Amino acid sequence: MHGGNIYQFAAQLGCLPEQVLDFSANINPEQAADFSCLQQVPLTPYAEPQYHLLKQAFKHRYSLPTAADIEPFNGASAAIFALLRYLAPQDLVLYAPLYGEYRHIAEQLGCKLHSINRLVNINADIPPNSTVIFVNPSTPDGQLYDLQTLLPTWQAANCTIIIDESFLDFCDAKSVTQLIGTIDKLYVIKSLSKFYGCAGIRIGFIIAGTQAITSLQRGEPAWKCSSLDMAYMQHALANTNFIDRTRQQTDYLRNLLSQTLRESGLFETIYPSQANFLLARLAQGMDGYQLQQHLATDRILIRVCENFDGLDKFHVRFAVKDERAVAQLERSFANMKP
Ligand SMILES: Cc1ncc(COP(=O)(O)O)c(C=O)c1O
Repeated sequence: MHGGNIYQFAAQLGCLPEQVLDFSANINPEQAADFSCLQQVPLTPYAEPQYHLLKQAFKHRYSLPTAADIEPFNGASAAIFALLRYLAPQDLVLYAPLYGEYRHIAEQLGCKLHSINRLVNINADIPPNSTVIFVNPSTPDGQLYDLQTLLPTWQAANCTIIIDESFLDFCDAKSVTQLIGTIDKLYVIKSLSKFYGCAGIRIGFIIAGTQAITSLQRGEPAWKCSSLDMAYMQHALANTNFIDRTRQQTDYLRNLLSQTLRESGLFETIYPSQANFLLARLAQGMDGYQLQQHLATDRILIRVCENFDGLDKFHVRFAVKDERAVAQLERSFANMKP
């Protein structure tokens, strides 16, 4: 199960999806480009098949080393599936808890899975020649890791390394893409839907060494990204003022959300986060499903994290949203008190 299924939730409540206050999907409430930028996009021709302008906008926004190249996909989820199909790893190490789609496709591919609980023992042994997957900052907790110790460990074990940096834009931190060319067999997955607040626009990327990208492209269909999606993302990527503004806004709103969670008295732990969401563990007495039931009366949707490896039904995640939404959540918590 994913976050963000406002359609199913609305159908259960008998309301419209737009009436749901969705804390379950980690999407920036602000956008970097207005929808009106799509008015001039011609719909008759096929989209430009080399994705030239989109790639240019991406490379302009994220300066990449000369050894690196990129391949766009219709969302990072599609990129994850394509990359694992391409690599077809035998042994796959998942640093859990992590985004569920990695396990999903790995199981379909029949990979031998090794789960390392990064919250308990991040330095656990890894099988030699395996493929490792690490999400940084991690989901569903938002912790930003310094990978300086792990990277050499993985290299020493001759691993293929996949780092998912879909939430890195929210942090003032360096991307491992700078190490492509220095570290062999390094792949980076990047979603743009979170930071740019547009999960309905489907654009994500794989960033890797030039040869790896050329070889991966051979298995890719033509025109997998639409002209509308690409045009929108090009405009969003060009808005550089949006970057600092979003980071400052997210820090401010995350603190506000954290304070609201703390003052509710419902949680025993709120995990440290540098991303646009907070993971919290309920104090005994109420589980995440019961909390969701209470909040549903105010049409508030949250993410119960029981299906993440290493977490349980007392773990719940809240996306960072605007002040009005946080105030609504606070009122809803207050109404729960006996
Ligand atoms: C860590 C991580 N990677 C990738 C994705 C997929 O993003 P997209 O919307 O680009 O498919 C998600 C979505 O939640 C995610 O949490």
